[in-house]
Amino acid sequence: MSTHPFHPDLLTQIAAEHGTPVYVYDEATVMQRIDELKAHLTGIPVRLLYAMKANHCPPLLDVMRRAGLGIDAVSPGELQLVLRLGFDPAHILYSANNMTDEEMRHAVEAGVTMNIGELSRLERLGATFGGLDVCVRINPQIGAGHHAHVVTGGDRSKFGIPVEQMDRVLDIAARYDLRIVGLHQHIGSGILDTETLWSAAAVILETARSVEHLRFINVGGGLGVPYRPDEAPLDLEAFESTIVASIRDFVASHPSEGLEVRFEPGRYFTAESGVLLSRVSTIKTTGSRTFAGLDTGMGHLLRPALYDAWHTICNLTRPHGTPRTYDVVGNVCESADFFARDRDIPELHEGDIVAILDAGAYGMSLSSTYNMRPLPAEVWIHPDGTPERIRRRLSASEFATAYLSDYGRLTAAV
Ligand code: LLP
Repeated sequence: MSTHPFHPDLLTQIAAEHGTPVYVYDEATVMQRIDELKAHLTGIPVRLLYAMKANHCPPLLDVMRRAGLGIDAVSPGELQLVLRLGFDPAHILYSANNMTDEEMRHAVEAGVTMNIGELSRLERLGATFGGLDVCVRINPQIGAGHHAHVVTGGDRSKFGIPVEQMDRVLDIAARYDLRIVGLHQHIGSGILDTETLWSAAAVILETARSVEHLRFINVGGGLGVPYRPDEAPLDLEAFESTIVASIRDFVASHPSEGLEVRFEPGRYFTAESGVLLSRVSTIKTTGSRTFAGLDTGMGHLLRPALYDAWHTICNLTRPHGTPRTYDVVGNVCESADFFARDRDIPELHEGDIVAILDAGAYGMSLSSTYNMRPLPAEVWIHPDGTPERIRRRLSASEFATAYLSDYGRLTAAV
């Protein structure tokens, strides 16, 4: 049984010590992904940003900062967090969607560059802060992703300024003396083929020819990871020989001095570094199906319910049992609350511990306390293999107290 990159005994020990549900993250895997990607970005002046929406637990952000990465932040909350954690504002791109005037002011005060994806916002920015440096997000009219919900380019996408409206961007910039120092695009998430990544990159490079004083081009994130056993990892050699090589030629020929190329992956750095541990609370056989019910649910890992996403599930307690077919379901009162359907897993018994793999991206960051189930605990595995609990799971009683206090109700009885 592969529980890459974790040792099953360590996971079992963590579940015993900290209870379930618990997310576990492996620092060494994050570092490995960063190093791997850097190794294939040779010969271009590159800056990696981390799309923190994938996972914003503080130790992970510390790793990113220490590794010299900047940040793609998309909300005032994300921005506040990374400023407090010591990221250099010069290396933060603020890409909030449907930005408000208040957010815009906040970003200016913080000294971060804004990434603007709407003509009307660019106009308001110019009218309020003429003369500012700004990045413009284009929609290259190419989109891709592992599910329709994560495609962020193309005609149906709300993101970015359609590339054919670039003339209007330049007009507005000229009118308000805005300096377009960056061009950005992000076409979607979970992309495993370099051809698609390249077709979009080609559009932004072409567009960048019409902008004179660029400091950076940001080709976005979107790099996929293999979740299913039959999926192959992104071919980084092909990535380097097509996309990186073309970018290298482009940078050499662009008139802007010191032009930097940015990538901003989220999933690629963190997905495989995380696992969600849970205990089987119920085995139920009906006429046609066997359900394995867990002590966690869609509130803690929404991806299967939201995107029909595949996460490999391992039986840590009985890894060598005879495989049986299960619907692995959660403890939330929704029929969308499942982790796997018709999945063969070594026979599960009530009380067994399971590991739901590749849950380090868009797991905890996409979680909720729906049905008033407190969030999982989180454990961080340091590079020397030592686990450290970094976030406690609240008991139901603590959770109810915190909830009441949010409403200013400090006593339970009214
Ligand atoms: N940059 C921008 C502007 C983004 O909107 C995103 C993700 C990224 C970068 C990072 O994309 P990545 O490298 O992680 O693919 N919840 C979905 C993914 C939604 C991604 C949203 N934007 C999932 O669990 O599959």
